[in-house]
Amino acid sequence: MLNVDDISARYGRVPALNGVSLQVNPGELLAIVGPNGAGKTTLAKCIAGFVTPTHGTISLDGQRISNQRPDKLVRNGVRLVLEGHRVFPELTVHENLRLGRLALSDAAQFPQRLEDVLDLFPILRERLRQPARELSGGQQQLLALAQAFIGEPQLLMCDEPSLGVAQRLIPEILTALRRMAERGTRVIVIEQVLTPPLSIADQVIVLNRGTVIARGTPGDFPRERLQELFLGTTSDG
Ligand SMILES: Nc1ncnc2c1ncn2[C@@H]1O[C@H](COP(=O)(O)OP(=O)(O)OP(=O)(O)O)[C@@H](O)[C@H]1O
Ligand SMILES: [Mg+2]
Repeated sequence: MLNVDDISARYGRVPALNGVSLQVNPGELLAIVGPNGAGKTTLAKCIAGFVTPTHGTISLDGQRISNQRPDKLVRNGVRLVLEGHRVFPELTVHENLRLGRLALSDAAQFPQRLEDVLDLFPILRERLRQPARELSGGQQQLLALAQAFIGEPQLLMCDEPSLGVAQRLIPEILTALRRMAERGTRVIVIEQVLTPPLSIADQVIVLNRGTVIARGTPGDFPRERLQELFLGTTSDG
């Protein structure tokens, strides 16, 4: 499993994370929610190797990864899809997906992986030859996820997948994330707003000011409790 144990991180003198722990098993989907500046992106960047924790350890299947560089982590199956749409607009959908094969241990697997991924994202199959810039924001987000998924990640993290995406396309993105988890990938979804990712999550962590202020299953977070947690986090700011 992914085991994040008591990590802290800071940017110079600015503390960003303070003693955060979490676990994600293969096939599980964890939602991390919290307000602006809570440390959600920093947490994902620590796991992906872009930020070095000042304290604590991160391990994947028993192997310590908190001292590894981002490129090594990609080869070990850790993928982070950052907020915004990380696709190459002038490349076609197919060309963008081909970039995902670089993460495969055996590039000969690419045609089969492409078929699997297009089954998961049928909308992309219809648009394989189009430049990515012609896709909507939501479709570009799906393409970024598909590209990451082609490399058979052990852990796929997605930072604010609903950002800049039309409301009606959000369920499609969440369904795709859920299906990736069902195929055995560990999935972490980060959002500021609470409701959408909760419906698909196995576990939920609420982060504020660098610490975990609540954790549980979606059932533990009825709307009133979320409001209370979120109001509590903004009113004392
Ligand atoms: N590159 C940076 N340099 C300095 N401080 C930073 C940097 N990135 C983030 N911070 C600070 O670290 C803290 C956590 O930020 P982070 O971006 O992880 O929060 P977040 O939960 O992802 O917020 P948002 O919902 O706005 O994306 C904040 O106080 C932020 O101002
Ligand atoms: Mg963020």
